[in-house]
Amino acid sequence: MDKVTSLCKRRGFIFQGSEIYGGLANTWDYGPYGVELKNNLKRAWWKACVYERNDILGMDASILMHPKVWEASGHVENFFDLKSDCKVCKKRFKTADLKDNSVCPECSGQLTESRPFNLMFKTHQGPVEDASNLIHLRPETAQGMFVNFLNILDSKHPKLPFGLAQIGKAFRNEITPGNFTFRTREFEQMEIEYFCSPLDADKTYESWIEERFNWYLSLGIKKENLRKRRHAKDELAHYAKACTDIEYNFPFGWSELEGIANRTDFDLKQHSKFSGKELQYFDDQKKERFYPYIIEPSGGVDRSVLAILVDAYHEEKVKEDTRVVLKLSKDLSPAKVAVLPLLRNRPEIVELAKNIAGDLKKSLIAVYDDTGAIGKLYRRQDEVGTLFCVTVDVQSLEDKQVTVRDRDTMQQVRISMDKLKEYLINQLS
Ligand code: GAP
Repeated sequence: MDKVTSLCKRRGFIFQGSEIYGGLANTWDYGPYGVELKNNLKRAWWKACVYERNDILGMDASILMHPKVWEASGHVENFFDLKSDCKVCKKRFKTADLKDNSVCPECSGQLTESRPFNLMFKTHQGPVEDASNLIHLRPETAQGMFVNFLNILDSKHPKLPFGLAQIGKAFRNEITPGNFTFRTREFEQMEIEYFCSPLDADKTYESWIEERFNWYLSLGIKKENLRKRRHAKDELAHYAKACTDIEYNFPFGWSELEGIANRTDFDLKQHSKFSGKELQYFDDQKKERFYPYIIEPSGGVDRSVLAILVDAYHEEKVKEDTRVVLKLSKDLSPAKVAVLPLLRNRPEIVELAKNIAGDLKKSLIAVYDDTGAIGKLYRRQDEVGTLFCVTVDVQSLEDKQVTVRDRDTMQQVRISMDKLKEYLINQLS
């Protein structure tokens, strides 16, 4: 993990949040490469879950929702962890993490009785800060899709089974955030709420587990680093009948990337009851009205980005040196092509390299870099996962050819400049 976190900072993937002020604990800012990687991941999810299917519709609901949503969802009553406070050092601990419930693991001071601590962030809507204006930041994006169930039925008239998909921020006042971006208080989720007949729910649940597991494989994550774990009954959230996690073998142990849950008809029934609006589905062939069951594949963007970075990190011996390379897939890699002048003190080479980069930029993601000697430039590009480096040298001025180096094999080929764009587009597609 130390190597990955250090690369993230060194190369502009992820920085400590508010760092110049000493940092705000467990907040992280995505830098130039981090935001590209994250966007590529979200795009891959949207493509697989919305564009390539006929049965899932996208949406984007507000983070702030009516306070009754969280009463109906059960989050006001059930979404808490037990915590204990140290009477001496005032630190707060999740009771489940403690070996001894009465002794502080940091200073050996006495701990308070363990008490429930609701994980939802609170704020006030409008200028008056009293109980009537209290609202929560959403702890999951899911509820935005449940409360729009009727709007979707009325505007798009989908037939069961169908799903809604959404990517967005969620907030949880976690007692013990940590492990870099793995557990934070502000994070992004990619969630599908898949509505189906109660009779098909078990089968649909099983097929989503496979579908989602295969999606992580399609990102290029190594199979041996992924596994499925079914929840025991006492682990299930208040709304779930069954849940299976897809876990990644992080350096700190196997941990959840995504949960696939059978939420039954809990949510639609609760929102019907609390809103007074009937959220049943009418099957016009069977002439039946019922509450659909919901199968929910719910993944974390930040956790997937972290798993992808850990999985892609490679160190290789090259002669006497060690090469660090991020072996990210073509689709995920934040950097596709870098154009590098072999000699940065030769203006004709620099100009030609800049022109080539400028031209490539019109069709693909390319950067120009002349901030170091060629060996150093290659090293930097390898570390951010750049798929191809195009080098312009003295000979290029005469033969109008450039050298293209493949990130993974490090093999170099000479390509004519007028064929370069076509060559790269083919390689990248
Ligand atoms: N709607 C269901 C739901 O929210 P969850 O298992 O609590 O289920 C789903 O969360 C996913 O959201 C997790 O698998 C994880 O990837 C991500 N997630 C949850 N809490 C997180 C946190 N504190 N930091 C980062 N990601 C988190």
